[in-house]
Parts: sequence; structure tokens; C-alpha cells
Amino acid sequence: MTTTPAIRAVNLVKIYQSGRGLPVPAVRGVDLTVDPGEFVAIMGPSGSGKSTLIHLLGGLDTRTSGEIWLDGKRADTLSESGWAVLRREKIGFVFQFFNLVTNMTVADNVELPALLGGASPRHARERREYLLGELGLTDRAAAAPAQLSGGEQQRVALARALANQPRLLLADEPTGNLDSRNTRDVLKLLSRVHRQGQTIVLVTHDARVAGLADRVVSLLDGEIVDDGAIVRRRGPGGTAGDVVELRG
Ligand SMILES: Nc1ncnc2c1ncn2[C@@H]1O[C@H](COP(=O)(O)OP(=O)(O)O)[C@@H](O)[C@H]1O
Ligand SMILES: [Mg+2]
Repeated sequence: MTTTPAIRAVNLVKIYQSGRGLPVPAVRGVDLTVDPGEFVAIMGPSGSGKSTLIHLLGGLDTRTSGEIWLDGKRADTLSESGWAVLRREKIGFVFQFFNLVTNMTVADNVELPALLGGASPRHARERREYLLGELGLTDRAAAAPAQLSGGEQQRVALARALANQPRLLLADEPTGNLDSRNTRDVLKLLSRVHRQGQTIVLVTHDARVAGLADRVVSLLDGEIVDDGAIVRRRGPGGTAGDVVELRG
């Protein structure tokens, strides 16, 4: 039996047409398959097309050409409202710049996706309490996003993305603004949900985050230049300091 990929992108291309300027090819023929339950980290220098690729996979931007299949269903041909339904039901998205609803509390920001997805108010509240607890945000539940630090807003955005227990978590640099303690909380939560079967595709610059992934995909100038499983070897000192190595 072959499993249906969670994501299959075929020759995906995005060319931005900006005003009178030259067209900018941001994603240039990406082929990417992600299995259910797999954790893939996307790395690459600034401007290499990481955000564009992850936005395309979540339907937040439209492709120029190529195909996107999610759970075996063609997705790139969906309308905006078709994508909105798909995201509500199946995808949690952590934006690079958080996109929290500014006039709602932290608690409401996290509960909203679960409620929109049809969870009971009690279930949505329990899920919110669990996620905020895991991310060290319990005492910020009544705050407005504007009262939070960048790192706190980023963790709220992750909690919101996971509120609905989405089949697919897409995240654009979810630890980009975090100090090391908060990064640790985020890493712990990501590994826990991954162990529970969560499919994750995330963009990161952080080797500790990439070290949790099953695979690292490297982008350069809009193309995949490396796509390899991670092999973990024990470091000399035992459990601490695992050596992470990329395999072609
Ligand atoms: N809305 C846009 N309009 C025009 N060009 C864009 C737009 N978004 C991104 N780009 C360009 O596409 C390329 C890839 O950008 P991006 O996907 O944001 O890269 P990364 O996330 O790896 O830093 C860059 O050259 C960037 O300037
Ligand atoms: Mg980016």
C-alpha cells in the first residue's frame, strides 16, 4: 500500500510581477513531496523563496504555474474561498509577522480557529488552556496582542495555528524572535505534536529547529538545491549534543 502524500508540489513556479519593474522569479520549479506525519524544515538564505513557497502551499498566494496536491486532492485550482475552507479544516499557519487579531485578547485569538472549525466552546477553551500553558503564556491570556513582546506574539501565533489540531502545520520562522528559553518551549511543543503524528513544514534559520526535523530542504534562488533526511548520531557525551548530519 502506498500512502497518499500530505503535500505534493509539482514543478511549482511563482513569478512576481511588480509594477513596471522586471518580473521576479521567487520559486522556480519546485518539486516537493511530504508524507503524512513528516516534519520538513526549509532552510536557505534570505530572498531564496522560503516564504513564497510556504505561502503557496497554504494557498495564501497564487502560483504562476505548477500543481499543488494536499492529501491527494488538487488544491492549486481552488478559489480563494475554497482555500479558506481547506485552511479552516486542515491547515494551521504561523506567519512570519504573526497576523494576530489586534482587538481580541490572546485567549480569543487562540480559541477562534477551533470555534470556526466547529469545536464546542468547552473544547476550544480546553485546547487554548493547554497550548498557552505549554508555551508559558497562561498569564497573558487576557492581554491584547499589542501588549505583548514580539516573542510572546510569536508563541500566540503558534498556539493559534495548533488550536484546531490541523492535519498540516505550516510555519514561517516560528522562532525568529524568541530568546533561547522561549525557543526551547516552542521546540518542546513542536516535537510533542510531531510525535503525535502532526505533519509539519516550517521555514527556519535555526539549526536547533532544523535538528528536530526528519528532513531538511535547502532553497537557493527559488530552487531546491538539497533535500535530505537527517541522520542522528549520539554525540560523545551521551544524550546531550546529538550530532546532526545531512544525508544527500
Ligand atoms: N509580493 C512580492 N512582490 C514582488 N517580489 C516579491 C514579493 N514577495 C517576495 N518577493 C521577492 O521574491 C523573492 C523571494 O522572497 P521570499 O519568498 O520572501 O524569500 P525568503 O522568505 O527566503 O527570504 C525575493 O527576491 C523577494 O524580493
Ligand atoms: Mg521569508
